[in-house]
Amino acid sequence: MDEIMDAEVRSAFYRVLHARRDMRHFAAGEVAPEVLRRILEAGHAAPSVGLMQPWRFIRISDSRLRAELAGLVERERQHTAERMGGRSREFLRLKVEGILECAELIAVVMAPDDGTIFGRRTMPEEMALASCACAIENMWLAARAENLGMGWVSFFDPAQVAALLRCPPGAKPLALLCLGPVTDFYEAPMLELRAWRNRLPLSSVLGENRYPGEEKK
Ligand SMILES: Cc1cc2nc3c(=O)[nH]c(=O)nc-3n(C[C@H](O)[C@H](O)[C@H](O)COP(=O)(O)O)c2cc1C
Repeated sequence: MDEIMDAEVRSAFYRVLHARRDMRHFAAGEVAPEVLRRILEAGHAAPSVGLMQPWRFIRISDSRLRAELAGLVERERQHTAERMGGRSREFLRLKVEGILECAELIAVVMAPDDGTIFGRRTMPEEMALASCACAIENMWLAARAENLGMGWVSFFDPAQVAALLRCPPGAKPLALLCLGPVTDFYEAPMLELRAWRNRLPLSSVLGENRYPGEEKK
């Protein structure tokens, strides 16, 4: 396919990309089945090492299961706070998930290793993981284009989530994706708005021929 993207498409793409936010506050309402389907199709259209497609999506429709997952996340949030030292109280004031409020909850699980060698001989786990992250980013962007918020929740013990979701041995849950209508999208990353941490300038993560910052040494 030799499709040329015109300026209008380009501008729309970058608008969606920069307007995407990790959302933790959700409004009432549903996600229409055809919209959910488009978002899942976007995830499944992601690039993957050796076309491995290691992602598995699990729609959580059982409210008891959703509550159990929320319980695991809350436990991990408390464990995380214990490791935060002087920022523990500040951390506990941050909202890090919207599991019980979001319209849809989708777990993304990395499938057991299928033995793909192509492109991952030296970094098998990382490349499967990176492929799953590509799928999640596609879903994040698609959700934003659909005017829906999405939040990636990673506060959990993967073994406990795997047990709840009846995952086969070797499968690893990577994300609980909260998806649904929101009242407003945050104007900037919520962690910036709450003065937790700021986005670095591009210049500090960009190097030329050497690792950033090592050029003059
Ligand atoms: C791998 C990954 C895991 C994340 N896990 C969480 C999480 O458990 N809870 C949370 O509130 N945000 C989580 N986030 C969202 C980040 O905090 C967020 O992407 C970052 O602060 C930048 O904000 P933005 O996505 O709105 O640009 C996660 C993001 C990524 C990429």
